[in-house]
Order: sequence, then C-alpha cells, then structure tokens
Amino acid sequence: MAKESLTVIDNRTGKQYELPIEDGAIRTADLRKIKLSDDDFGLLGYDPALLNTASCRSKVTYIDGEKGILLYRGYDIEDLAENSNYLETAYLIVKGELPDEERLAAWTHNITMHTMVHENIKKFMTGFRYDSHPMGMLMGTIAAMSTFYPDAKDVEDLQSRRLQTRRLIGKLPTIAAFAYRHLRGLPYVYPQNELSYTGNFLSMLFKMAGKYTPHPAIERALDVLFILHADHEQNCSTNAVRAVGSSLVDPYSAVAAGVAALYGPRHGGANEAVVRMLQKIGSVENVPEAIKAFKSGEERLMGFGHRIYKSYDPRGKIIKKLAYEVFDVTGKNPLIDIALELERIALQDDYFVSRKLYPNVDFYTGIIYQAIGFPVTMFPVLFAIPRTAGWLAQWAEMVRDPEQKITRPRQLYMGEARRQYVPLIERPEPADREDKVAEAI
Ligand code: SDX
Repeated sequence: MAKESLTVIDNRTGKQYELPIEDGAIRTADLRKIKLSDDDFGLLGYDPALLNTASCRSKVTYIDGEKGILLYRGYDIEDLAENSNYLETAYLIVKGELPDEERLAAWTHNITMHTMVHENIKKFMTGFRYDSHPMGMLMGTIAAMSTFYPDAKDVEDLQSRRLQTRRLIGKLPTIAAFAYRHLRGLPYVYPQNELSYTGNFLSMLFKMAGKYTPHPAIERALDVLFILHADHEQNCSTNAVRAVGSSLVDPYSAVAAGVAALYGPRHGGANEAVVRMLQKIGSVENVPEAIKAFKSGEERLMGFGHRIYKSYDPRGKIIKKLAYEVFDVTGKNPLIDIALELERIALQDDYFVSRKLYPNVDFYTGIIYQAIGFPVTMFPVLFAIPRTAGWLAQWAEMVRDPEQKITRPRQLYMGEARRQYVPLIERPEPADREDKVAEAI
C-alpha cells in the first residue's frame, strides 16, 4: 500500500525527510523540520496571494473549478436555484442541513424579527455625503453596528453567535436599502414583515408615496441571485472575515472587513466594473477593438476569469438565463448584446481560451440589476447582502475549529540588514537615497 507521505531530500545537506500527506495536503509547518543547522528556523512555504494554500478545513462549500461544479453543503447550486429560496439556502449554509417545515418557519420568523435597525443607525447614515458609494456606507454602518451590540464580543458563546447571525442576515437588506434611499434623497422606508425577504428589500428600496407590491418575477429573480451569491468557499472576502475574526473580534467588525474586501473591482466590485466597461464599449461594432485592448493587457475584460473556475462559472450560466426572465418584465437591457458578443468572441480567442478565462458570476449580474433599476454603485451591495450568510457560516466554522488560532503569516524579509542610527547632521544625501525613498512610498 503506497505511503501517504512525501519523501524529500534537502540537496543542501543530503538529509531526507518524510512529510505526511493528509486530505491531499502537506502541513506547511512540517517544512520547518528541514534545516541547515539546529539553530536554523527551518524552511517556510512561500505562496503570495495564497494561490496554492489551504487556510482551513471547511464543510460549507465545494467547488470543482475544472468541471464547473458548485455545491453548498453537498447540494448542486443548480438544484438550489431551481427549487429553493434564499432564506432556506441561508439556513442550509449556516446550519449544514436543509430545514424541515417547522425549522424553516422559525428561521424565517427569527430573521424577519431582526429587520429593524436602531434609530441611531438611521441618524448615523444621514451623515454620509449625498454621493457616497453605498459599499462605503454599508462597510461603515456594519462596523458601527458593533457598538450597538456589545454582547456580540462573546464570540465563543453559541447563543450569541446565533443571535448576531440572525441580526446581520436580517438587517443587511435594511441598511442596504437605507443607503440607496440616502443616495436618492428619499425618506427611508421601514421593513414590512409580511413581505418575503427579497420582497421586503424591494419595498424598502422602491416604495414611494403609495402602496408598493413587488413584482413576483423580479422578487423571484432577486431571490435566485441571492442564492447564487450566498457563499463561495475561501474567496477574498471570506478569507478577510476569517482572518479578522481570528482575533476574536465581534462578527460585525469581521463582516465589515468582508464588505471591504468585496468592494474591490477584482472581487465583488467587478459587477459594477462590467457595466461601466460595457457602457464604455458602447456598441457591438466596437467589441473587436475592445478585445484588442484586453488582449494587450492594457485593460481587463471585467467579469471574466476566476482563480478557481477554469471552465464556465456555473452561476454565470444560471444568471444568463435569468436575465431574459427579468427582461420579460423590465424590457431588454441593450448592454446584453454587447456582453453576448464579447463572450462569443472571447470564447473563440486563444488569449482567453489558453488562460481558461470564462464569464464569471459578475459578467451578467450588472445587466440584470440595471434593468431592475439599480444604479451601478448598488451592484456590489447586492453581492454583499446574500454573501453575509456565507461569511457568517465560515466565521462560525473558524471560531469552532480547534486547529484555528489568530491568523498571522510569516514573511520572506528582503529589507536592509541591521544598521546603526545616523544622527541627522551626519546623514549624507547619497544619490540613490531618493530612489529608495521613492520606491518605498
Ligand atoms: C468574484 O474567489 C471567488 O470565489 C470570487 C467570487 C466569489 O463568489 O466570491 O467568485 C466572486 O470575485 C469573481 C471574479 C470577479 N472579478 C473579475 O471579473 C475581475 C476580472 N478578473 C480578473 O481580474 C481575474 O481573472 C481574477 C481576479 C478574477 C482572478 O485573477 P487570478 O486568478 O489572480 O489570475 P491572474 O490575474 O493571475 O490572471 C492570469 C492570466 C494573466 O495573464 P498572464 O499574466 O498569464 O499573461 O490571465 C489574465 C492575466 O492578465 N487575465 C485576464 C483576465 N483575468 C485574468 N486578462 C483579461 N481579462 C481578464 N478578466
């Protein structure tokens, strides 16, 4: 029977080492055994951006990037998008199993009872500039929520974790809608608990003076989009939530860090960047010119490529279909023709094919959100709301994991060797000093 281990020879010393293989990985800490001498620190693993490093054991989400498979707690994303709803999927992600009728009703009630926010949060939000980016408002407000719930600091208490989870999943849509109303200079709309999770969100966004009834097709489309964005294993923002949460700070602060990471255009900010890119391209006739710019490396084809998916993102396929269901209600967003032409050409072009660049979750979502009536800056907020369930499931898994400690990576030091302090009057201005300072800025 083949041994589950690596035998490595350090050619610097001729010594041989056995490194156990467990669950398809070696413990990078085992590399420390490989030393030049007894007082040597031992070898480190070097993996910038953690391209090939497992930071944790998790049971929440499984992705096969080559086959385009995405499972939440073992269930195919396609099945959940077809048959489930967001709150049921959030229960699955957080609790690990699909709920029975009684548990689903209790979960829905508990989330719904936490949709209101403290009135001071409303006052806090009115302090933002009229043109603030809603992701900045969301990040700041969620971080501020840690001051409203000091009990949340007891992260090792199960009941406290459960309470904060209900609060955050319940309140994210309210805060997001308040941010939108702030941008529009409109009065904030309070939750209507008789509506569904996404129906209530639409009401808080778009209700004007009269009665508001969400369009069922839009309500369902948003619910499916929320299912598709609910978790995605160790993506950048989840890694941020885990790393910040590993200091045992409260979950509001950890989730605010997740929102911050998601804000970036390489991550959740990509859906906003895609629509801006399509608007800049302007017409189907301009696509070949745009493709040239992407291939030259001058610009990125936003919404394309993925660290894990080296085939079509399964979420992208579902979203592309969903777009037409939304357009049946809203009318077609003409940007989709440009997106379809970009995809058609890119999937035939060796630059993209050789780099296994396919449309990801963000390529078509913005076109749908714009058709529904969201401003571009709200798109990443629509990603953050559903991802809160995944962030909290992963955060709780980290808190409970006996192997986890505070996240504190090592480094490869490339700086100056030890040197003596030089008094000001003795510091010559060597020619290269400016270069060094400029480089360090
Ligand atoms: C999300 O991790 C997750 O799971 C994230 C997410 C989730 O649900 O949480 O799935 C959500 O963030 C989706 C990704 C959204 N981002 C974008 O659409 C932005 C555009 N995409 C890229 O910036 C990029 O593809 C990333 C950031 C998504 C992935 O980057 P990697 O894995 O670090 O790959 P890379 O930047 O090293 O690129 C590899 C090569 C490079 O070419 P070479 O240097 O080898 O010549 O592919 C090229 C890149 O130039 N490339 C692209 C490209 N993406 C990569 N070229 C043109 N257009 C692109 N979009």
